[in-house]
Amino acid sequence: MSPTLTLLFVLLYHVLMVFASDPDPLQDFCIPNNHPTAALKSCMNSSLVVVNDFIFSGIKSPGDFHKTGFSSQPVNVNNFPGLNTLGMSFVRADFDKGGINVPHMHPRATETAFVLEGKIYSGFVDTQNRVFAKVIEKGEVMVFPRGLVHFQMNVGDSQATILGMFNSQNPGLVKIPNALFGSEIRDELLEKAFGMSSREVDKLKKRFSPNN
Ligand SMILES: *[C@@H]1O[C@H](CO)[C@@H](O)[C@H](O)[C@H]1NC(C)=O
Repeated sequence: MSPTLTLLFVLLYHVLMVFASDPDPLQDFCIPNNHPTAALKSCMNSSLVVVNDFIFSGIKSPGDFHKTGFSSQPVNVNNFPGLNTLGMSFVRADFDKGGINVPHMHPRATETAFVLEGKIYSGFVDTQNRVFAKVIEKGEVMVFPRGLVHFQMNVGDSQATILGMFNSQNPGLVKIPNALFGSEIRDELLEKAFGMSSREVDKLKKRFSPNN
């Protein structure tokens, strides 16, 4: 990694990190009351809550692979309201052969990643730009401390699957390439930051455009 890129990563997570723990629950559970007139997310009357409010069935199989050979299916309070106020969530991630999970970070959660299948080069970068990375395999777990940039790549000869667990109901996700080149940061700043020509910046902006 070039020094300018490294520097930008460091700046980026200082700017984007929001340190806040999920608050403790005040009741057994709080299935959000999604009535459109409710100003604040109040809890549904618990006598109306049913077992299916606590079950999520959407990650039985891998999602579609993107061009990076990667698919991730987050299960957090946004698609599984049963997690509301409980301070945790998770993600199923599948990797095609050679597939990568681009460098990214979660501003509000530490993640433990459990390898269900395969061999994955897996690591994170601390605030001194020291990299802690290794190939981990089925049955092993790696922890990515909150807010630090981390990444993974399937280095095995078949598909791989991990389960990532977060200590927040809404960990947030900042993908480094997209935050930089898929956003509306001025080209001139990116050119200066990375020592790139406008053509090079343009190429990356096209690649990471949200419409792409
Ligand atoms: C919840 O529903 C039950 C049964 O309909 C009702 O008796 C109770 O008053 C309700 N509680 C609240 C706080 O609205």
